[in-house]
Amino acid sequence: MVLPRDFDDAHARADSLSLRTSIGVGGRPRYLFEPESEEGCREVVRLCRASGVPLHVLGGGCNLLVTDGEIEGAVIATRNLKHFRVFDDRVEVGAGYGFPALVRKAIDLGIPGLPGCPGIPGSVGGVVFMNAGGRFGSVADALSEVSGLDHEGNVFRRFIQPGDLGYRSSPFAGCLVTGAVFRRDPAQTPEMGQALHRKAMTWKRDTQPLAARSAGCIFKNPPGPYSAGWLIEQADLKGLRIGGAMVSTQHANFIVNTGEASAKDVWSLIMLIQAEVKQRHGVDLELEVQTWA
Ligand code: EPU
Repeated sequence: MVLPRDFDDAHARADSLSLRTSIGVGGRPRYLFEPESEEGCREVVRLCRASGVPLHVLGGGCNLLVTDGEIEGAVIATRNLKHFRVFDDRVEVGAGYGFPALVRKAIDLGIPGLPGCPGIPGSVGGVVFMNAGGRFGSVADALSEVSGLDHEGNVFRRFIQPGDLGYRSSPFAGCLVTGAVFRRDPAQTPEMGQALHRKAMTWKRDTQPLAARSAGCIFKNPPGPYSAGWLIEQADLKGLRIGGAMVSTQHANFIVNTGEASAKDVWSLIMLIQAEVKQRHGVDLELEVQTWA
């Protein structure tokens, strides 16, 4: 099959995803597109669909595990979708806008929940897709609207309803998120936001390996009283290594890249953890990280 010329440029631009994922592993896609507008994204989705080329969406690459070697098909990166518009009652942000920067601005802008999300890396699109957050706040606290493209390249705009966002889940699987709207609450003062931010940051620094290269929590917390981190620690797996991948000694639900880890090292460690936790506790740990095989 002869692909349109745009694919030649996208091939030339494709670099290793180990440079674009927070855990620092992953191979090179055949094609990489980095559009600067929703319309540009739409063209890429339609082009790939018409050419039968599978398309992966890359946000901040922070909750993602990509295979080694060449990645089949194309990648569309959203990092150039960076608009940021402030209104009296809301803030509109592009999917490629950095979430840590939004969290800092949320303190003065009175966006509920977000000041309680320091130390969560990634892009706005990624955190919306994953409904990121934790005990001090989450995306769901303030998200009111999401815009994007469905798998056919049709533009959509969805007003968030109660029940749309679950534990690390959103209704946007198979879609490309291009932007989000967060509400502002006049009752939330900068002092309140600052206090929440400080408290959450202190707690995060004490409990998570923020400076290490990782993909965040690897597994979802299973139903029941015990967290994935607790189950892994109780199975004596903290510090366990395969190649360059290691179970964090600080928080057992993180796998850190100690240097030259490959995706194969990380995968092998994941499978070992799952087997050990199943044997010791009878619990099946489900992946939280997104994976591209
Ligand atoms: N624990 C251990 N050993 C560990 C880690 C944790 O015993 O190595 C225990 C803790 O002592 C605590 C319990 O497990 O009693 C829960 O741990 P923690 O409070 O650290 O929270 P978590 O459930 O492990 C979740 C999210 C994090 C989020 C934190 C903070 C998941 C899978 N993880 O972690 O999100 O930052 O709460 O709110 O839901 C992520 O999703 O990538 C992530 C980092």
